[in-house]
Amino acid sequence: MCGIIGYIGAGNETLSVLMGGLNNLEYRGYDSAGIAVGGSSLSVVKRSGEIEALEAALNGHSIAGSLGIGHTRWSTHGPPTNANAHPHTSESGAVAVVHNGIIENYEALKQELQAEGVTFQSDTDTEVVPHLIERERTRGADPETAFRRAVAQLEGSYALAAVIAGTDAVFAVRNDSPLVLGIGQDGYFLGSDVPAFLEYTDQVVYLDDGEMVTLTQSQYSVTDLDGTPVDTTVETVDWDIEDTGKSGYEHYMLKEIHEQPTALRQTLSGRVNEQAGTVELEDLDGLAGREPAGVQLVACGTSYHAALYGARMLREQGIPATATIASEYALERPPVADQLVVGVTQSGETADTLSALRTAAQRGAETVAVTNVVGSTAARECDHALYIRAGPEIGVAATKTFSSQLVTLRLLTEHLTNGTTDGIHDRLATLRALPGALQEVLDETQAPAVAEEYVGADGYFFIGRGYNYPVSLEGALKFKEITYEHAEGFPAGELKHGTLALVTNETPVIATVTGNDEAARKTVGNVKEVEARDAPVIAVTDGQTDVARYADHVLEIPDSHPTTAPILANTQLQLFAYHMANELGRAIDKPRNLAKSVTVE
Ligand code: F6R
Repeated sequence: MCGIIGYIGAGNETLSVLMGGLNNLEYRGYDSAGIAVGGSSLSVVKRSGEIEALEAALNGHSIAGSLGIGHTRWSTHGPPTNANAHPHTSESGAVAVVHNGIIENYEALKQELQAEGVTFQSDTDTEVVPHLIERERTRGADPETAFRRAVAQLEGSYALAAVIAGTDAVFAVRNDSPLVLGIGQDGYFLGSDVPAFLEYTDQVVYLDDGEMVTLTQSQYSVTDLDGTPVDTTVETVDWDIEDTGKSGYEHYMLKEIHEQPTALRQTLSGRVNEQAGTVELEDLDGLAGREPAGVQLVACGTSYHAALYGARMLREQGIPATATIASEYALERPPVADQLVVGVTQSGETADTLSALRTAAQRGAETVAVTNVVGSTAARECDHALYIRAGPEIGVAATKTFSSQLVTLRLLTEHLTNGTTDGIHDRLATLRALPGALQEVLDETQAPAVAEEYVGADGYFFIGRGYNYPVSLEGALKFKEITYEHAEGFPAGELKHGTLALVTNETPVIATVTGNDEAARKTVGNVKEVEARDAPVIAVTDGQTDVARYADHVLEIPDSHPTTAPILANTQLQLFAYHMANELGRAIDKPRNLAKSVTVE
């Protein structure tokens, strides 16, 4: 996820519009930022680091120009450096482009351009775009046609905005990444999100995939990629300027729960070849199909729950695998010969996980960081870095990064065993369907009403078997973290070995039951045990067993593969925790005593 902004206007406030917009979009990425201001030539300034670094580079100087584009970056290709910061420019410097998304065919395009003698300045996928536009210009196309023809060569997800020296226009297009047009009194705006320009106008057009917009001083036009005009609707947004980064949601956590379909699309983008039945992870060149003797996953908290899920999946596909809490790993010092040691850490900065990875590396293990942050310590120190691409997560409680970790670990498993296991086509098809199924859960959830019903209980128990066991642990952790109420997660079969003594009519049991295999049927048996002790039961289920008969409330999920159903169930558990915490008036985005990344052991 990155943030882009564009502006054209009569006044001379381009720079302040762009900088204000970037500050309001910082929640979409904050590892580098840059701007290009247009006129007869382009002025481009960009810096790695937060927006203050860009402000320092501008050093109070104004840049004159009546149009421009800006970008705040969350890296997906290449570390956060000045060269990799946007805007990216063509060789002559006459074209500048900002981009949010992933150009999937950039390597082929880059090779083609390099063969023609084009020199690249960055490691990014985006840089192909200004070079393509310039190539079309030198072939004689006018600026708008050059932009359109360049875009036609791209595959992947993008919201792109471009400016061309000597051209009094801003061009933009969207495909699978958000882009909004703002219509002001004295100018037009583009943004990844309304906050980019909300202080100037509340009149917006939400662009659809495949729509291109051309802004000039006097008008805007929206067309499809063939140039045919598209009818648009101008809407008035009624957001409070105070809530800008939250896009109208009450909390970042709720916004991030709702971003999960997009985050998962990004996680999967360009990595799954359904036809061939393979997963291609360019980040892990050299590991494909190379089944290691074993995989040791190390992680903390939520990431440890993802690691438990990953280890199970690897084992099911024939690779011995363990998940160990990172702070215990160094004490255990398991043998590492021929092992791949995988640190699962969304921040890439958790001290316990870094310490476990360093212990493993010192003893000769090959290491992989599964992380959300390009250039993080884990990414830099490990032999390989596999990015989960969830986009920035501001809420302290991990939500979309957890889902993206689970899907990334699924991809890692398939990558290590490429094409050699049964059922791969089914599994890959379900992954493709997952973002849509998750959207269905978000649209139809009953979690707010169910949460309201159980405020003030004595304690909450979360149970599940198989892949639903780590999800139950995660459900309980999320619940404790933001409600401050007592909760525990268990393998469903374990409850009767002690904790059942605590189960009463004041302790709701939240049972996740998916599929209709032996594990699911046995979990229904465990639900009957707690029901017999008068415990209220909330079943999170796809309806394949008769668990609903024994439940007081049901949180439904659509049918899915055994490995993806838990991701859908987890979304219901996130929402249940969120709405309970909201009922209780908790500090949801910044729960007491907790930090987003824990850098002490
Ligand atoms: C809980 C949560 C934490 C983290 C843990 C590890 O919502 O976010 O439990 O999962 O502190 O953090 P990372 O993944 O950054 O290593």
